[in-house]
Amino acid sequence: MDDLLVERIRADMAYEFQRTAPPEGFPAFHDIATERHTSDAFHDLEREHLWSKTWVIAGRLEDVPNPGDYFTFDKLGVPLLVVRGTDDVVRCFYNTCQHRGAPVVRDERGSARRLRCQYHSWTYEVDGGTLVAVPDERDFVDLDWEQRCLPRASCDAYGGFVFVNLDLDADPLVDWIGPLAEMLDPFRGSELREVYRETRIVPCNWKVTAEAFLEVYHFKHIHSHGGVSVLDNRGAAMGLYPNGHSRMITPFSAQHAARMGMADWDDWRPIDHRPFASITGVPNMASCTSSAVSIFPNVIIPLGPIGFPINVFWPIDKGTTLLEWIYYGLPPEGQDRFDPDDLPEHWKTRRDGYNSIMAEDERNMAPMQRSMESPALRGIPINYQERRIWHLHEEIDRVIGVENVPEKWRMSPVLQPYVET
Ligand code: FES
Ligand SMILES: [Fe+2]
Repeated sequence: MDDLLVERIRADMAYEFQRTAPPEGFPAFHDIATERHTSDAFHDLEREHLWSKTWVIAGRLEDVPNPGDYFTFDKLGVPLLVVRGTDDVVRCFYNTCQHRGAPVVRDERGSARRLRCQYHSWTYEVDGGTLVAVPDERDFVDLDWEQRCLPRASCDAYGGFVFVNLDLDADPLVDWIGPLAEMLDPFRGSELREVYRETRIVPCNWKVTAEAFLEVYHFKHIHSHGGVSVLDNRGAAMGLYPNGHSRMITPFSAQHAARMGMADWDDWRPIDHRPFASITGVPNMASCTSSAVSIFPNVIIPLGPIGFPINVFWPIDKGTTLLEWIYYGLPPEGQDRFDPDDLPEHWKTRRDGYNSIMAEDERNMAPMQRSMESPALRGIPINYQERRIWHLHEEIDRVIGVENVPEKWRMSPVLQPYVET
């Protein structure tokens, strides 16, 4: 994040504070159709065209430190395995034996010189998924070994995160992330390690969970404590990136800025975070605002000078979501990872604080889904402050293919002129 971007965000915030209406010429949004959150048909469209074509976070590079190390990944609804090859390249294969479909590996993680199916021992090599051994081969007539290698998915890494994409023709990950990297790079994701993780099953559509983190219009209404909100949503500065990604930097409220020793909302100064270790080179803005990004379609990251959680939303079915958050930080001096059973006290406090914010957000989700499924909610009106939600939905339609989306549920592509390149 260079100084120019930081100064642009500061100017955007000043503008947001003083405006009396959305910017001149900003489009009026039509309602978002509730069926996008409730119908089987829309869920099927997402399953067929979105989740099969988008990059998602499957794990971390340190989960597979050595050649032959692997982990399985099932959250896209198909069984996958990620393995580090003897050439040190991390690849993704379907965890589906080409004999009769048994899972090639059963353990969630492990290490193997070759991937040998536990059922009848068909064996594949780790670099290319090539079939290299078939017991009792004499009993197969005309077995075409080349046709029976493990099918591949796209796989790449960014910031220490392993991304997979079922589409073999997907754009390279770095191109797809594009200018969002200007926000993420300073936080040195590859140097961070997991502090702790939580998962919840929430009875709502996955987009209800995602949308809860795409605006701060709600912030002071559900996250205030003792009458004080940490953030002032009126100054929230947002940026829309290509491919559905976005950023949102929200200033501290006057009370919280004063608590932090800041003279005003934009007095972005160094803050001492000890006993936490701080990430080197992170701009002061990250200590003195809420700086969040979203990676399309299902990741929200509130970035911070001591690390960040990733909030991830996985559809189980149209009305059920696996909500997961994993916090990453710099491990204690002299250690290469955190011990989840023996976290330093300051991290336990941080964990409890973050979990309680997440609980405040979660409380609304199931009831909102029930309302959307009732005739009571006629449609979803979206305001200017909520435009990142619109951006998410617009991109969902583009990835699904607008022509595949029933006209009455489509999003008008009105935010295209506002996307930064
Ligand atoms: S199903 Fe894998 S070897 Fe038979
Ligand atoms: Fe919230």
